[in-house]
Amino acid sequence: MTAQPLRAALLGFGTVGAAVARILVDRPDLADRVQLTHIFNRDVARKRSAWVPPSVTWTESVDDVFASKPDAVVEVIGGLEPAGTWVRRALTQGVAVVTANKMLLAAHAPELLHLAATKGTQLRFEAAVAGGVPLIHGVREGLAGDRLLRVAGILNGTSNYVLSRMAAGDEPMSAVLDDARRLGYAEADPSADIDGDDAGAKIVVLAGIAFRRHLRLADIPRQSIRSISAADFRYARQLGCTIRQIAMVGTSDGGFHAFVGPALVLRGSNFGLNMGANNVVTIAGHYGGENSFSGAGAGGPATAVAVVSDLLSLTQRTHERSEEWPAGTITPPPARPYYLRFVVRDRPGILASIAAALARQGINLDAVLQEPGYPKDALPFVITVEACQEAPLKTALHEIGRSDFNAEPPLALPMLLGD
Ligand SMILES: NC(=O)c1ccc[n+]([C@@H]2O[C@H](COP(=O)([O-])OP(=O)(O)OC[C@H]3O[C@@H](n4cnc5c(N)ncnc54)[C@H](OP(=O)(O)O)[C@@H]3O)[C@@H](O)[C@H]2O)c1
Repeated sequence: MTAQPLRAALLGFGTVGAAVARILVDRPDLADRVQLTHIFNRDVARKRSAWVPPSVTWTESVDDVFASKPDAVVEVIGGLEPAGTWVRRALTQGVAVVTANKMLLAAHAPELLHLAATKGTQLRFEAAVAGGVPLIHGVREGLAGDRLLRVAGILNGTSNYVLSRMAAGDEPMSAVLDDARRLGYAEADPSADIDGDDAGAKIVVLAGIAFRRHLRLADIPRQSIRSISAADFRYARQLGCTIRQIAMVGTSDGGFHAFVGPALVLRGSNFGLNMGANNVVTIAGHYGGENSFSGAGAGGPATAVAVVSDLLSLTQRTHERSEEWPAGTITPPPARPYYLRFVVRDRPGILASIAAALARQGINLDAVLQEPGYPKDALPFVITVEACQEAPLKTALHEIGRSDFNAEPPLALPMLLGD
């Protein structure tokens, strides 16, 4: 441990930044390890808070922060710029960085980690994935002895809130999203959450931690949860399942398969039982089997715990060389069963024509489900198929989707029944 406390400056005094300062102020027992020296924010006068001690300098000049030669800066501004410029400036000066910024890491982690390594300093980012859940420390240190095979989880609280509410209440997505916005679980534009970019960025970071490889966010297949309807939950229930947004990455021959999107999971599984905005992540290892982490994936105080823990870990590891993440390659997913939902204008022969298109691709049907009571011009029914590769399934669905009996495009969801 260093004799002097780590002198840390906070860049950004918003939800997370204020909560970080609050912990450091509330916990005098940490004062001999971490000392908050500066709080930087634009228009900083608005932010001044009486509970922050006078020893802390409030500033709207980032130059003042760097001139003070801090040991670490905490970047909790968010976004690619100007946060990226300030993170690079810190690392270039040999100043350690703690950040919660998953988007910056997903885009630039290899460059930033390399910069940290060449400057003999550290880049830490426990808060960037699953908020307050100590997932990165757990994987990087607790599971370092295993050969990891797969990381899969519910990493986006907004999508999980929406889907778990739909599962419980038979409500349409639009009504649940309106409620989520009112309660502060969803932003005015929830696209990054429900279309998978947020969870995708977190999977990029987790792939780096678990496999020491950088995957490009643009290469990770992402499927929106927007197409999930109340009928899908009814059919999923008949199969003993529910639907969750799952983000996963696993090793495969020659690279990594990865996916973010809605999937069927067993109702009694870790994923199926995960409600509201909670996060849950399961890591599978060759030797140790499965380990799961769960907890608050967001929120100022929970996320701030992760940031402060990173600061404390810096006080113990000043001589550790920063890791690097060479590029990894995305490969197709392994064969798996799928749930296929069709909404059709009913007429004789539809099932036979769908079955024939699947058979032409060598795909075997498992079950056919059709609930009564739907209108004949928009009739939803479900076919589950045995484990198959994604490419022939896409070919079959493309062919089926061209038929004029479809009232909506066919929907395919992987069935992840082992989780
Ligand atoms: N909130 C969570 O639960 C959570 C969880 C995990 C990770 N994170 C990550 O933590 C980071 C911060 O999130 P947050 O929720 O704390 O955001 P936030 O509440 O919007 O706080 C950001 C702060 O940075 C300031 N800021 C923005 N641009 C600036 C600029 N150009 N110059 C100076 N100050 C600037 C903002 O000032 P203004 O007040 O003037 O806008 C605000 O005080 C993000 O990377 C986010 O993804 C957040």
